[in-house]
Amino acid sequence: MKKIIITGGTGYIGSHTVVEFINAGYEPIIIDNLSNSNINVLDGIEKITGKRPTFYKADVTDNFAMDKIFYENDDAIAVVHFAASKAVGESVQKPLMYYRNNLNGLINILEQMEKHGVNGLVFSSSCTVYGQPEILPVTENTPFAKAESPYGNTKKISEEIIQDTLKATPALKAIALRYFNPIGAHPSAYIGELPNGTPNNLMPYITQTAIGIRECLSVFGNDYNTPDGTPIRDYINVVDLAKAHVAAVKYLNSHKNDKQFDFFNIGTGKGSTVLEVINSFERSTGVKLNYKIAGRRAGDIEKVWADTTKANKVLGWKAEKTLDETTLSAWEWEKRLRVKSEELIVKSH
Ligand code: NAD
Ligand code: WQD
Repeated sequence: MKKIIITGGTGYIGSHTVVEFINAGYEPIIIDNLSNSNINVLDGIEKITGKRPTFYKADVTDNFAMDKIFYENDDAIAVVHFAASKAVGESVQKPLMYYRNNLNGLINILEQMEKHGVNGLVFSSSCTVYGQPEILPVTENTPFAKAESPYGNTKKISEEIIQDTLKATPALKAIALRYFNPIGAHPSAYIGELPNGTPNNLMPYITQTAIGIRECLSVFGNDYNTPDGTPIRDYINVVDLAKAHVAAVKYLNSHKNDKQFDFFNIGTGKGSTVLEVINSFERSTGVKLNYKIAGRRAGDIEKVWADTTKANKVLGWKAEKTLDETTLSAWEWEKRLRVKSEELIVKSH
């Protein structure tokens, strides 16, 4: 079975991607330091797939540990590198932590790939590299904007580090996937997003409000130049996003790929306003959401959605889930998560 090393594989997007690789007949090897995820995620993966993936609790910034893991898995055909810190606001408070974790981690992974002859990389990039594009939908040819945060800057710099490394190492190939806004959970509700503390992102804030952990969702601004005044994003179902990684690994190693480095927008190709997401949530779940219109959030852009033509044509991948399916999956996961945490509280008493 073809081995894939997946860093950050117990995280939100990583865990869904591990499932899709298992479903596609690959053998994922997870590396995660559990700084933003939980070991129980492996139980969820096992419940869905019937397989428990190999797991290394290790830090990608620890080059000695990475050397050992790559030595043991030098027959892997690719690395999918998710492991990184991702909270935009926190990155403004702790820039050096973000540069160290996200850049040192990537540098170590590239070094170990070179050393052990693991020649394919799929890297988690972000639509944040485009900032507020002038022309929508945004294509991959849109120039990068000045980063709004140290987090965003790590994604821009990472893509540059990868390209420079490839120039010096002809055997390596890489693909950067620029994700738009991933939301939702696996339809089984065995895995999903585990936000730390008060969520900053829209979807977990919606589900936590609906379940009663938060009193009210603040909609950050309704005076934007959009049909209902609220900002537009391209919300992509996390299972669709996970499948894009399988497509990317297949393409990376196929004879069709004549590029050493390539990059793809991974979104639905359709923008939704914040109010449309709320309406979808209420429609798909039948739950009424308590929300109010509040002031704009600093740093928010007005609108962005992806032109996904390149990924559709070259990778043969397309987002399939509807927004209603996706908001429902987020709700099913939230409900299961709360049942699980209540069980844990009862057990610990
Ligand atoms: P996540 O925090 O759920 O997953 C990241 C995983 O990496 C976690 O399990 C964490 O424990 C692990 N990790 C972090 N630093 C590590 C280290 N030094 N060593 C080993 N493991 C480490 O985040 P996610 O939402 O699944 O994001 C995955 C990737 O996708 C990240 O690179 C993120 O920047 C990128 N991305 C995420 C979004 C989003 O909105 N979620 C959008 C665009 C890009
Ligand atoms: C979506 C919309 C908010 C919360 C962030 C990162 C980006 C990428 C994805 C990693 C916006 C509105 C939100 C709330 C609201 N991550 N909102 N009330 O800001 O598009 O992108 O995550 O690469 O880099 O910046 O996502 O989910 O925070 O917000 O009204 O309580 O929901 O204003 O319009 P965002 P988000």
